[in-house]
Amino acid sequence: MLVSPDLDHLGIAVRDLDAACQFYTALGFAVEGREEVAHEQVRVAMLPLGAGPARIELLQPTAAGSAVGRFLEKRGEGLHHVALRVPDLQAAMARLQAMGVRLVKDEIQIGAGGHRYVFVHPASAGGVLLELVEAKR
Ligand code: CO
Repeated sequence: MLVSPDLDHLGIAVRDLDAACQFYTALGFAVEGREEVAHEQVRVAMLPLGAGPARIELLQPTAAGSAVGRFLEKRGEGLHHVALRVPDLQAAMARLQAMGVRLVKDEIQIGAGGHRYVFVHPASAGGVLLELVEAKR
């Protein structure tokens, strides 16, 4: 039987990562794992929600033409994607692809913190950019 996915993180697009970190720090969040993900052209900060492991992921683009840069230009700052954690990413992808679900890229990517992920296109996910993250084994 399939396991119900956990919330892994909420991806929020921001123009100024330092200012956003300051805002969330004032709410009591701790900033963990700041890093740059070169192939996504973003600077990322991870902020655990409560006792974790769910997090807020703040994303600042490093290039205007990047995916997050274009999002900011079109829609402004805001919720960019929802990430769910699945036990077996390859199996989840295969099930979705067999249903004709559109993925943003058909190969598994490696992101912040070395986690494996794919994005499901909003056109196939009720208008939500859905990231599937593999649970660390
Ligand atoms: Co993400």
